[in-house]
Amino acid sequence: MRKKIIAGNWKMNQTPKEAEKFIRDCKEKVKSDKADVVFCVPFVDLAAALDLLKNTGIAVGAQNMHFEDKGAFTGEISGKMLAEMGVQYVINGHSERRQYYAETDQAVNMKVKKALADALIPIVCVGESLEQRKQGVTVDFVRMQVKIAFKDIPAGSARKAVIAYEPIWAIGTGETATSEQAEEVCAAIRQTIAEMYGRETAEVLRVQYGGSVNAESAAELFAMPNIDGGLVGGASLKPEFAAIVQTAGV
Ligand code: 13P
Repeated sequence: MRKKIIAGNWKMNQTPKEAEKFIRDCKEKVKSDKADVVFCVPFVDLAAALDLLKNTGIAVGAQNMHFEDKGAFTGEISGKMLAEMGVQYVINGHSERRQYYAETDQAVNMKVKKALADALIPIVCVGESLEQRKQGVTVDFVRMQVKIAFKDIPAGSARKAVIAYEPIWAIGTGETATSEQAEEVCAAIRQTIAEMYGRETAEVLRVQYGGSVNAESAAELFAMPNIDGGLVGGASLKPEFAAIVQTAGV
């Protein structure tokens, strides 16, 4: 039985002071012994988040990383730097990074490889655009993203990763995928992992859904057999996040 994982992706929100206040106010309410809970915060908020969430069971994640340890990459942060701070998770290949920062499938693959080598848990984001959904190529496209993201990664490492299925048309739009739509693609992702690594790995690896998850939609989504929790954007910045986490525990 896979443990559910609910991650909040704050995106570019909350200054360190705001983050501190937010975490102080909500940390008791978002604790869960049934689900893994992660706050993926801006780099500048990591130190405060790590400090305030120590011994709460709530993990801290970053939203991006570079695939080299160090070097002449102005403005970048390496996985090694994150790991040394005590960060446990890192989002790789979010659609906003693919769209606005030209992150390719190959770059995502290098990041996932490096994250796993640095003992970080990558939350690997995949998902189709509205146009791709309309063209009927959703599953083909997402399967390709998964195959490239996990290229040359051995099963022993891959099983630790989390994959987040985030249809681009559902992100920040208030238009959540139906639980059937989300389940169809999450099942296809698990099937792709099974083809690459075998059934046993596919049964262990967790697949989340993301895209306008809220307290109303969470229960039905998380009840689907192949959906192991959510990657939550907007609602992770509201008290509603606690209700979403509690949904995962039932
Ligand atoms: P929203 O929940 O705001 O749609 O964002 C989803 C997302 O992109 C999480 O990574």
